[in-house]
Amino acid sequence: MAAAAAWSSFFLVAGAARGAPASCRPQERDALLAIKQGIAEKEDLWSWQQESQDCCQWKRITCNSVTGHVMELDLSGSYLQGQISPSLLSLKHLEYLNLRSTFLCGPDGRLPEFLGSLSNLRHLDLSYLNCPGELPLQLGNLSKLEHLDLTHLYDDSRRSMGLTDISWLARLTLLVHLDMSYTNLSSIADWPLVLNMIPSLEDLRLASCSLSSANQFLQILNLTNLHHLDLSNNHFGHSIASSWFWNVTSIKYLDLSATTLDGPFPDALGNMTSLRWLLLSYMGMTYTGPKKLKDDKFSGYSYVVTEVWSVVMKRQELKYGNGFFDLVSMDLSFNSLTGGIPDDITSLNGLLNLNISWNHLSGKIPMKIGAMKSVESLDLSRNNLYGEIPSSLSDLTFLSSLDLSYNNLTGRIPPGTQLDTLYTENPSIYTGNTGLCGPPLERNCSGDNPPKHVNQKISEKFSEPVVFFYFGLGSGFMAGLWFVFCALLFKKSWRVAYFRIFDKLYDNAYVFMVVTWRRIDDKTTG
Ligand SMILES: *[C@@H]1O[C@H](CO)[C@@H](O)[C@H](O)[C@H]1NC(C)=O
Ligand SMILES: *[C@@H]1O[C@H](CO)[C@@H](O)[C@H](O)[C@H]1NC(C)=O
Ligand SMILES: *[C@@H]1O[C@H](CO)[C@@H](O)[C@H](O)[C@H]1NC(C)=O
Ligand SMILES: *[C@@H]1O[C@H](CO)[C@@H](O)[C@H](O)[C@H]1NC(C)=O
Ligand SMILES: *[C@@H]1O[C@H](CO)[C@@H](O)[C@H](O)[C@H]1NC(C)=O
Ligand SMILES: *[C@@H]1O[C@H](CO)[C@@H](O)[C@H](O)[C@H]1NC(C)=O
Ligand SMILES: *[C@@H]1O[C@H](CO)[C@@H](O)[C@H](O)[C@H]1NC(C)=O
Ligand SMILES: *[C@@H]1O[C@H](CO)[C@@H](O)[C@H](O)[C@H]1NC(C)=O
Repeated sequence: MAAAAAWSSFFLVAGAARGAPASCRPQERDALLAIKQGIAEKEDLWSWQQESQDCCQWKRITCNSVTGHVMELDLSGSYLQGQISPSLLSLKHLEYLNLRSTFLCGPDGRLPEFLGSLSNLRHLDLSYLNCPGELPLQLGNLSKLEHLDLTHLYDDSRRSMGLTDISWLARLTLLVHLDMSYTNLSSIADWPLVLNMIPSLEDLRLASCSLSSANQFLQILNLTNLHHLDLSNNHFGHSIASSWFWNVTSIKYLDLSATTLDGPFPDALGNMTSLRWLLLSYMGMTYTGPKKLKDDKFSGYSYVVTEVWSVVMKRQELKYGNGFFDLVSMDLSFNSLTGGIPDDITSLNGLLNLNISWNHLSGKIPMKIGAMKSVESLDLSRNNLYGEIPSSLSDLTFLSSLDLSYNNLTGRIPPGTQLDTLYTENPSIYTGNTGLCGPPLERNCSGDNPPKHVNQKISEKFSEPVVFFYFGLGSGFMAGLWFVFCALLFKKSWRVAYFRIFDKLYDNAYVFMVVTWRRIDDKTTG
């Protein structure tokens, strides 16, 4: 008898543990059907059927498996048109709402105010939404919101929508991720002050927002958790040093491409010890229009960034362990840099990619350029560099991309298998330097004897790893982002710290191979 009871209770427990997920609540099911009612084109909602009892089985719905409450509603990318029914409010437990790329608005064609009453919402995606008019201030009532995507809002004429009031954002005190890229914020002069009221912000993306300045003064800096800041393609046109974000020392990724900021970097940059990526090129920028609507979040651009980032981070761990200030990744192309290339740059033997093309740099290429052992791509094109190409250039055994075109370089091109290979792959790397001569160019040098092939041996010695490297890296890595860890240029104390560590380093090439190998390994093992 006791045994039977024990058995039956065992089965009860086992049954509950393995039990089927709870099914849909009837009133939430009715609400979903009412929502469907308001939508004109319903093909995407074919699974939402009166006859089908368990709405947790419907497409685009996610329920809590224990309570059966609808937790997520994802209507994104469906181009659904029509009205959002207030029945949405019956989904009291809704935490995730995605209306990306839909035409679902209120009866007046605007986004309905009642969205602000979805008080449990943590994730709201309104990107590419086609509801003209200002966003309702009631959105500020979504006090549990952690993720808000307001990119590419459109107005009536399908231009980027202008917002005139974002003060309600300040009430979203748990917000971690905010993306308003391509939404016109030109009339919001005090945007940093509003955002400074959200101390939880970690990820802020305001690319192409028509922002007109970033030099607002913040008396108290609340944004101490911010690590990703994208302000690219906003025309600030003031001095870079007066920008508010330099005091945010938590920033890891800072994109200032195409921001028309000028002048020298502030000393405060030296305090940004978390910074890894600093993008400063003319370039968060070719927007390809509605074609990209259906794309996943990971565009080619962010894919490459992620890839490069993970490799760099792994390498950093191998070298230094966690937390050491190592690299700032910089693309300095298409700026108005003047003066010479600092010799110091050659000490950056952890440098991966250096793009300082399209500037006004003059002077000679540093003699010791070959010391930048791990550099993979080097673009010095479109400057006013003169003098000879240093023979140490052929020491750069990992170099897989080189561009020296359109400078004023003269003299003989240094020999080396690596350079020959690069030339074969891209014969234009020396173009526009009328004074260069010797093989592989057709132009003979006048008179002098060819220089000794001092570096030839080194190149040959390394040629096997180089081949290995080519195979390993594939094209994604090389796809056109060029970064530099050269914050050291700006701050003496950084340089000192860097050198101190570097004295103790393992052989860089070895570390690099390990990292590359791991990466391939990761790739192949999925
Ligand atoms: C929601 O926000 C509006 C305007 O911001 C406000 O008037 C209203 O009281 C709020 N409602 C609730 C329930 O908090
Ligand atoms: C943003 O709005 C301002 C003022 O309404 C307008 O002058 C500007 O052209 C807009 N920018 C874009 C990119 O549409
Ligand atoms: C943020 O800083 C401002 C000063 O710029 C201050 O007035 C405000 O109270 C702070 N807000 C929070 C949420 O800490
Ligand atoms: C950054 O902080 C320093 C001192 O803490 C202050 O003097 C400076 O004005 C701040 N810069 C900005 C842009 O807020
Ligand atoms: C760097 O940080 C230190 C310590 O927080 C501070 O005293 C100093 O003013 C900062 N330097 C700049 C230029 O902001
Ligand atoms: C190139 O360099 C030569 C001397 O090395 C100089 O005379 C000439 O002006 C330079 N040309 C340009 C375009 O800078
Ligand atoms: C370059 O020099 C070689 C001999 O060293 C000669 O045969 C060749 O014709 C010359 N080429 C040019 C373009 O002057
Ligand atoms: C360097 O930057 C320029 C301008 O942003 C770009 O056109 C060029 O392709 C980059 N260099 C390489 C090697 O990709």
